[in-house]
Amino acid sequence: MKILIVYGSNTGNTAYVAEIISSAFAEHEVEIRNVLSVDIEEFKQYDLLIFGTSTWGNGEAQKDWKEVLEKLDKSVIGGKLIALFGLGDSAMFPEQFASGVRDIYDVVIENAGIVIGFWKNEGYNFQFSKALLGDKFCGLIIDQDNESNLTVQRIVDWVKMLEEEIANHKSVND
Ligand SMILES: Cc1cc2nc3c(=O)[nH]c(=O)nc-3n(C[C@H](O)[C@H](O)[C@H](O)COP(=O)(O)O)c2cc1C
Repeated sequence: MKILIVYGSNTGNTAYVAEIISSAFAEHEVEIRNVLSVDIEEFKQYDLLIFGTSTWGNGEAQKDWKEVLEKLDKSVIGGKLIALFGLGDSAMFPEQFASGVRDIYDVVIENAGIVIGFWKNEGYNFQFSKALLGDKFCGLIIDQDNESNLTVQRIVDWVKMLEEEIANHKSVND
């Protein structure tokens, strides 16, 4: 399976998380791109896209995503498996924790992408997050500012869950 991780990052945290996610996939071919230098036409060559962003402003996606989100359409991501991850700072921004990833989720859903990798919200301290849909986050949430000691384990658990979801998805569609 070919996987492409695309991230937007201001101070390097999301770039770091992208690297760890990449190394957590044991058996698959994984490439990583900064969203600043991605050609969305190449998304079509991958079986799974993983989109990651940190959160800035009032709970918004990292700014470099804007242009790509405006360009994404059904011809590029329709019917494609997509997993999301978002970073935030739950101590400084508990009222808008890791909300930026929701901007990406909304565009993916609007353009018929199939989102996998919803993530439990247990073990996080926050008041509100746009990333929370019902009782699950729309992707993996990482707090590198306050809980960096949990990052690697969270990623390992999430990637394991993703691999199971992908296997189930394949057996349904085969
Ligand atoms: C000015 C500013 C605004 C931020 N806004 C939010 C926010 O609304 N919600 C949140 O959870 N984190 C917020 N953060 C925290 C960042 O998302 C967090 O530090 C993240 O790890 C940065 O990742 P990056 O280096 O990949 O951009 C903000 C940080 C700064 C400096």
